Amino acid sequence: MYNKNSTKWQKRLTKLQSIRLPLLITVMALMFVIFLVGIDKKKPNSQLGLTNKKAPNLDESRVLLDPTVEILNSTEVIWQIPNSPKSILFLAHGCNGRAANFWDKSVNCDHCVGLPEERAIVLEALARKFAVVAVSSKGRCWSLMKETLVVERIIRFWVKKQNLESLPLVALGASSGGYFVSMLASKLKFSSIVVMIAEGVFDRIDVTRHYPPTLFVHMPKDKRRKKMIDANLESMRREGVDVAEVQSMELALSPSFLADRVPGLDRKISAELFDLFKEKGFVNENGYLIDDGRVIPWKKAMNERKVSLPDKVLVSYIQEELNLAFAYHEMTSLQSEQIFNWFESHLR
Ligand SMILES: *[C@@H]1O[C@H](CO)[C@@H](O)[C@H](O)[C@H]1NC(C)=O
Repeated sequence: MYNKNSTKWQKRLTKLQSIRLPLLITVMALMFVIFLVGIDKKKPNSQLGLTNKKAPNLDESRVLLDPTVEILNSTEVIWQIPNSPKSILFLAHGCNGRAANFWDKSVNCDHCVGLPEERAIVLEALARKFAVVAVSSKGRCWSLMKETLVVERIIRFWVKKQNLESLPLVALGASSGGYFVSMLASKLKFSSIVVMIAEGVFDRIDVTRHYPPTLFVHMPKDKRRKKMIDANLESMRREGVDVAEVQSMELALSPSFLADRVPGLDRKISAELFDLFKEKGFVNENGYLIDDGRVIPWKKAMNERKVSLPDKVLVSYIQEELNLAFAYHEMTSLQSEQIFNWFESHLR
């Protein structure tokens, strides 16, 4: 049996070697390449997953960004309430941000900017039936001392005026807004909060077990901040606070990356920019950015190459997505699923 078989195989092998081996090698090499490309594609996709794959589920056609802009006591408040809301989400922007970044430019909000990550968070919130209310800080960043009372009053006033007092209140703040939300949560009752790319002000407030459940969404590449978040997670847990973290990791750029994530940017320009970034050494051989979008002279390179964008506002959209891909310090909607699951599992 064995002998018979092995002679058969030997014969076949010899035949193959003499005639078909080159073909076989070619076919196998091709299959290997396809396999590699498949893996390569899967990686960024599974990291992007939440926003990229979920985008159809978000059903943007069903959820429309349609805000109301109001000035209360000379403070800008922008809000939108879906049908049958189940909760209220307060949003706090980072330094240089404003409430107008969370909604697209429209007739109701001519100065709205619709930054990609911000608007994606609002879309997810509305799809999940959260009433969304964002406030603009007075200065460039939030003043923890002066503005907590101002915003506390605005939220209370707005909630009452909209007849939403029976709904649980949650909050999300990024960077300066993260510090702000962590402070605000010591004065105003939230059912849970999300502190994004910030360690919070937990060294300055008295954290007891009554402090709301807190999810830290952060970018561990910022090692200093990660250390402080780790310390806060531990001390808050010891106090009996429900805490958790979600890490936002770097993403590899690809020819379609910017087109996939930047509203209004087509695939052609996206691929052109990717090629330019590779050529200039802004991304390494694996497609990862070598530095933050704020640091890399990509705008200069783009102008020199005469790549023109259909709208100036796309510059800030692209910059945000480069910062997100570098994953050091940026607002992120990639973790929307975990963020809203956190809110929903703590509604009370
Ligand atoms: C507006 O300011 C007044 C005076 O400081 C204050 O009593 C009131 O609560 C404020 N209203 C809102 C909506 O913040």
